[in-house]
Amino acid sequence: MTEALATPQQLNHTMTKTKRALTGIQPSGELHIGNYLGAVRNWIRLAQRQEMFTSIVDYHALTSPLDSEELAQKTFDMAVAILAAGLDPEKATLFVQSQIPEVTELTWIYLTLTPIGELERMTQFKDKASRQQSILSGLLTYPVLQAADILIFKAEEVPVGEDQVQHVELTREVARKFNLAYGQTFPEPKAIVPEVGGRIKGLDGKTKMSKSLGNTIGLLEPPQEAWDKLRVAKTDPARLRRSDPGDPHSCNIFNLHRNFSPKTTVDMVEVECARAGIGCVDCKKFLFEHMESEFRPIRERAADYQAKPQQVKEILASGAEKARKVARQTMTEVHEKVGFYKP
Ligand code: ADP
Ligand code: TRP
Repeated sequence: MTEALATPQQLNHTMTKTKRALTGIQPSGELHIGNYLGAVRNWIRLAQRQEMFTSIVDYHALTSPLDSEELAQKTFDMAVAILAAGLDPEKATLFVQSQIPEVTELTWIYLTLTPIGELERMTQFKDKASRQQSILSGLLTYPVLQAADILIFKAEEVPVGEDQVQHVELTREVARKFNLAYGQTFPEPKAIVPEVGGRIKGLDGKTKMSKSLGNTIGLLEPPQEAWDKLRVAKTDPARLRRSDPGDPHSCNIFNLHRNFSPKTTVDMVEVECARAGIGCVDCKKFLFEHMESEFRPIRERAADYQAKPQQVKEILASGAEKARKVARQTMTEVHEKVGFYKP
């Protein structure tokens, strides 16, 4: 079950009954514009209206090859990028997943309720497993850890990109199974996916923008590097020459305009591309201008946080403390419901 982000009118209407949201992101080393449009921009907006928890999911990161000497730094860098993007840590508790070991405890309990067949059906699992020689069980059970992330906070909303909707569905299933076995305990959360940014394609114009596919523009990338990548990014494949009319709706750059540019620019590009009034490089220049006006202050804030690492550490420490308190409460309830021995 998914829901597009509410309009301001709907937001006012729902202000009174706030639901708790939780989201997560892997400390992959780079926050790219796909993550930003599909997820982070939504987190910032949601945190304005409701309670939220934001987890940097380092347990999940262990399911991909990684260098343990880099993990802590990448975790810190992800925190800097999220804060610089504008997430208010007072409103959206930011913490590192491994600081809340109760999450793995709950994962174990959920694993005893989750059929292997359901996990084997997950698209992300099938995709990643097809690229591995020996498939590790952590990759298969990854979505159960994600369910624990969400449900340990009894979150009802999960702001994510489209690719995570299936995992949220599985989370609902896990909640249902637990409630059936042990009594009503967990809500069945729903995914909150942005209307236009839910699935951003990479610069190749084909596949999903993803760190592992090397087709990204980083949110904090220096402007010259970002422009060099954008300048050669794929456009409407049928538009071969400047004089050919293009089809904006089959062009990845137009989709980026819809995410970054004001309506007047979007409307102009739509008309002018279709009658070959502007070329693809002109179109990219307009886009880049709007991206830059959004990213420049983000880069400045990131430099500020990088210069004050202690401030970031304090945010993560107080986030973990707050998150752990909630997690412990849930686990006390879970112990009782499951019937564990209590000395
Ligand atoms: P990546 O695929 O680059 O490793 P993650 O899996 O860490 O990114 O995703 C973090 C968040 O960003 C998730 O909510 C995910 O749905 C969202 N996201 C990732 N890539 C995209 C994309 N190309 N378009 C929209 N949202 C995305
Ligand atoms: N699986 C998510 C991704 O790849 C990251 C994630 C882990 C997550 N736990 C979560 C997202 C909980 C939302 C809620 O992007």
